[in-house]
Amino acid sequence: MQVLMLTGGFGTRLRPLTDIVPKPLVPLLNRPLIDHLLDMLPDDVEVAFTLSYGRDAIVDHLRSRDDSGRFAFIDEPEPLGTGGAVRNARRRLDGPFLVMNGDIVTALDIMDLATFHSRRGGIGTISLVEVPDPSRFGAVAMDGDRITEFVEKPEGTPPSNWVNAGFYMLEPEVIDLIPPGKVSMEREVFPSLLPRGLLGYRYVGRWTDVGTLESYLKAQEALLEGMVASGDLDDPLLVAEGARVDSPVDPPAVIGQGVRIGRRCRLRNCAILEGAVVGDRCVVDSAIVSPGAVLGDGSRATATIVGAATDRR
Ligand code: GDD
Ligand code: MG
Repeated sequence: MQVLMLTGGFGTRLRPLTDIVPKPLVPLLNRPLIDHLLDMLPDDVEVAFTLSYGRDAIVDHLRSRDDSGRFAFIDEPEPLGTGGAVRNARRRLDGPFLVMNGDIVTALDIMDLATFHSRRGGIGTISLVEVPDPSRFGAVAMDGDRITEFVEKPEGTPPSNWVNAGFYMLEPEVIDLIPPGKVSMEREVFPSLLPRGLLGYRYVGRWTDVGTLESYLKAQEALLEGMVASGDLDDPLLVAEGARVDSPVDPPAVIGQGVRIGRRCRLRNCAILEGAVVGDRCVVDSAIVSPGAVLGDGSRATATIVGAATDRR
């Protein structure tokens, strides 16, 4: 199986965090998001990354891993969209391949998806998950296992609450159906594949995208709860070694490497990322504090992403 990871988006909805660190490297439980995605794959599988925004930082990180020998990098000087990124990788693809969105945290079993795809023999198989509000996703209508409609970011009534979970298997002939230039897989290619037999693999279980502040905090909480359930943590609270924390922290929360937190702060449901400094008497609630950010004494950060140097009184 060949694997293509889509890691060229701007991460607009996580700004200003993604002005400092590209989305694939955003720390989640003090590890880059992309490392969580790699955990889903067998250790020896080769992975090609389609890169644009933040390219150098992402390559540096991947090359620093012990298993970097299995990675390939495909450059997109200008973002080509999700479909264009796949077409741009065509020279590397000669059999059925897996495409992974680079911003999902889930317990979905990738190998089970691959097996389903090869047994059923469609031109493609999209993993699907049921969500309460499909409007931020690509929603489908189904007839049995067959997708009969695919609507990206439905504006009116969605065809159903089942949406693209961000992982799909495709047969190589799909590449020839992607026109050159900037192309959206979801808006242009998937709808065009429907008459050829595009199948849906329904997944039920833990799944969150990490595209917004709200979904990031949901993903963080789900992963922390998982660690509590498996006995790796007592509470959904993870504090990196060497962080200096002089205030109580209400779980769920994650405190990164080298973080300093002053006295008499109130912290809950937050991620204070590596190297950030939080002064005395601060309130941080439902918020992310970016790596290296500085919150001056008495600052308040509620339901927000704190960028580099900030004084919020
Ligand atoms: N190489 C490359 N080039 N990658 C890109 C580009 C591009 O031009 N644009 C986006 N990507 C990458 C992003 O980095 C991300 O990993 C993935 O493609 C999906 O892009 P998002 O911007 O995160 O899309 P979305 O979250 O709005 O919607 C997608 O994900 C949903 C599940 O979270 C769609 O695939 C939906 O159908 C799906 O439901
Ligand atoms: Mg996304």
